[in-house]
Amino acid sequence: MDTLALQNEILQLKKERNAIILAHNYQIPEVQDIADITGDSLELSRAAATMGGDVIVFCGVDFMAETAAILSPKKKVLLPAIDACCPMAQMITAKELKLVKDRYPKAAVVCYVNTTAEVKAESDICCTSSNAVKVVNSVKEQQIIFVPDRNLALYVARFSKKEILPWEGFCIVHDQIMPEHVDKAKQIHPEAVLLVHPECRPEVIDRADEVASTSGIIKHVCTSQKNEFIIGTEVGILHRIKRECPTKLCYPLSEMALCRNMKKTDLIKVRDSLKSLEPRITVPEEIADKARRAINRMLDV
Ligand code: 13P
Ligand code: SF4
Repeated sequence: MDTLALQNEILQLKKERNAIILAHNYQIPEVQDIADITGDSLELSRAAATMGGDVIVFCGVDFMAETAAILSPKKKVLLPAIDACCPMAQMITAKELKLVKDRYPKAAVVCYVNTTAEVKAESDICCTSSNAVKVVNSVKEQQIIFVPDRNLALYVARFSKKEILPWEGFCIVHDQIMPEHVDKAKQIHPEAVLLVHPECRPEVIDRADEVASTSGIIKHVCTSQKNEFIIGTEVGILHRIKRECPTKLCYPLSEMALCRNMKKTDLIKVRDSLKSLEPRITVPEEIADKARRAINRMLDV
């Protein structure tokens, strides 16, 4: 079946099911193109919390669908690619976090949204890449246990007087971008502005002109007076940039920055999930209640 026919079938099923489709900025182009909203983690969490409909089809990875299920417990949340996970979110368990909390009883726990619902339930407040600095500076405690991304923790520490205790997790995609990639890209495109995601290593962030979430990077490209950009994040973002500001020239900082989990969703899986209303993501009420507190506290900030 060709792409257009599949997209039409999905639109028809979407109507019948009263569903909304949310897609992360790293999704494959065909999936981004049928989504109601394509965005970063914060925008998609907000959409899950506020948009109508009976069904949310989440084209992203597991923790994103879990967050949507926590925020909209009455809706059916579907993750078309059931094996789409975020390896960083697997780098800390609730049990490990409890041990750290016992060691630092006065500290607040700020957890990156790239975590399991169980870890969120053990945290005081969540953050995303677009609000991490604001969230950390909003809590009253002076000491902060920041999980699981050490690169994001170190980035936040540059803008905070708080004592930040980073967990040693990392994104397997962003962490492999090296300063040598920056040297090479700047040599080839000397006039280009370097925009990077805060999951990158500090040595890469040091060389960047701007550090932002995925949607922050897109906004920067589209509103800047400049014309050429080197993009230091997962390459799927280039499709949305091309769609929203086609005249700008964007080059990936590393062609290798590809998140395989974000590419597991395709149109066939989206269609099938709308047909069968599976695979459905649910979070046990007891965990969801606690995790919701941490997520809502972030949305209030
Ligand atoms: P954003 O919230 O910036 O879109 O990041 C999500 C993510 O998984 C980045 O790797
Ligand atoms: Fe997780 Fe990194 Fe993939 Fe984002 S890009 S979903 S942080 S592995």
